[in-house]
Amino acid sequence: MKRIAVINQKGGVGKTTTTVNLGAALAYHGRPTLLLDLDPQANMTVHVDKRPDMETETLTNLLIDDKPLNDLIQDTSLEGLSVVPSDTSLAGVEQVLANRIGRETILRQALENASADERFDFVLFDCPPSLGVLSANALVAADYVVIPMQAEYLSLQGMAKLLEVIDLVQKQLNAELEIACVLPCMLDSRTNLSAEVLHEIEEHFGNLLTETRIRNNVKLAEAPSFGRTIFEHAPDSNGAKDYAAFGLEFLERIGESSPAEDDITDDPELVERPDEPPATAEAEAESGA
Ligand SMILES: Nc1ncnc2c1ncn2[C@@H]1O[C@H](COP(=O)(O)OP(=O)(O)O)[C@@H](O)[C@H]1O
Ligand SMILES: [Mg+2]
Repeated sequence: MKRIAVINQKGGVGKTTTTVNLGAALAYHGRPTLLLDLDPQANMTVHVDKRPDMETETLTNLLIDDKPLNDLIQDTSLEGLSVVPSDTSLAGVEQVLANRIGRETILRQALENASADERFDFVLFDCPPSLGVLSANALVAADYVVIPMQAEYLSLQGMAKLLEVIDLVQKQLNAELEIACVLPCMLDSRTNLSAEVLHEIEEHFGNLLTETRIRNNVKLAEAPSFGRTIFEHAPDSNGAKDYAAFGLEFLERIGESSPAEDDITDDPELVERPDEPPATAEAEAESGA
């Protein structure tokens, strides 16, 4: 089971949208996926149509009361996609755990104890917009980090801090942690600004920047209020197309392409591909094209 933290301490950049719809894309590819809502705002919980109430047990019960992960998993409307919900009580976790030794490793330990491994190929963590104990738990438990970024002015602000925290976690608590990719979200192709910011992101992150761009799409903004993933809400929308493309690119990036996709590498035409010149505008500029 591969664990992925979707993280950026800025709010409103597309973390929750990406967690839900990457999870859905993976589920559609036949990879059972578990979503963990680590944000006290519980946007993801609501997005998959779970309304937290007093009786629902949430991640708080896991982090504070040692409740086994398996007891907290709920199905969603999409086959192969499950969720562990959050609620506002998660906001108190930072304080409750403030003085507890080993507070950053609780989630990793819980995942290791759980038999979730047998049920799920992937578990995705939807992180809160902060770099506190909850995000630390996600980074310590994760194999990969996905960083959604909004292509707008100042979007790189705060990145140095995030990279510093990732580096610290790699050095001290989780040497296996890898940044899988930086995903530009809510792109407005009508403005030059998006292109400029993308260029800046590429200069900063090089080939960690995904080829997939998530365009601004009203269906993506609507889907949460219907409690559905984009593939259920509007399967023909640009939002569905973009997240389907991202799902494939993500699998490829972490070397997890499905057997069917691996097979096509036997096709001689596709094997030629790596020799082709890179098609990015920047590469063209560099090669003097
Ligand atoms: N590509 C997109 N096009 C249009 N709206 C989007 C897109 N991605 C996200 N949104 C909307 O923008 C808001 C913030 O996105 P969200 O995923 O909740 O960000 P975060 O989890 O980082 O705070 C939400 O209302 C969401 O529905
Ligand atoms: Mg969110």
